[in-house]
Amino acid sequence: MHRNNDGRQFEPKIVGFFCNWCSYRAADLAGTARIHYAPNVRIVRVMCSGRVDPSFVLKAFALGADGVLMAGCHPGECHYIEQNFKTMRRFKMLQYTLGHLGIEPERLRLVWASAAEGQQLANAIDEMVEQVRAAGPLLWPGNWKENEGRLESIERLAQEHAEAVEVQA
Ligand code: FES
Repeated sequence: MHRNNDGRQFEPKIVGFFCNWCSYRAADLAGTARIHYAPNVRIVRVMCSGRVDPSFVLKAFALGADGVLMAGCHPGECHYIEQNFKTMRRFKMLQYTLGHLGIEPERLRLVWASAAEGQQLANAIDEMVEQVRAAGPLLWPGNWKENEGRLESIERLAQEHAEAVEVQA
């Protein structure tokens, strides 16, 4: 078991890019339905999983995430027609690239969760947290705690790219 310097169990930091129309609402539903899931995911809301530029994922790792969870609407249910097919292609590309950078595959996950699937999303989060916990800290960029404001930095990046990768309705 991986432990922090203070002897406590290692708690992975996972950045979740969640689609506003489905997985973000599923997370909300899980909260209101008192479905418990690991509190390790810091959620960044995006308007579609297709809005998640691969650079967001790389930046999240570079800024200290131990894992990145991309979550969107099921194939065929994207509000922007077929943007989540683009997500699938990007996910494959990222898996390939991260593999070559020596990053374990379990540190990046793509899940589909409709707004009604709070339990499924919670299960996926719990499973991922356990897998990343077992993999241990990524230790790419130094210590997350000593570098406050990283989530804000990732959110800013998503905002900056809002026009560049605007989804087509
Ligand atoms: S709107 Fe949810 S994945 Fe596109």
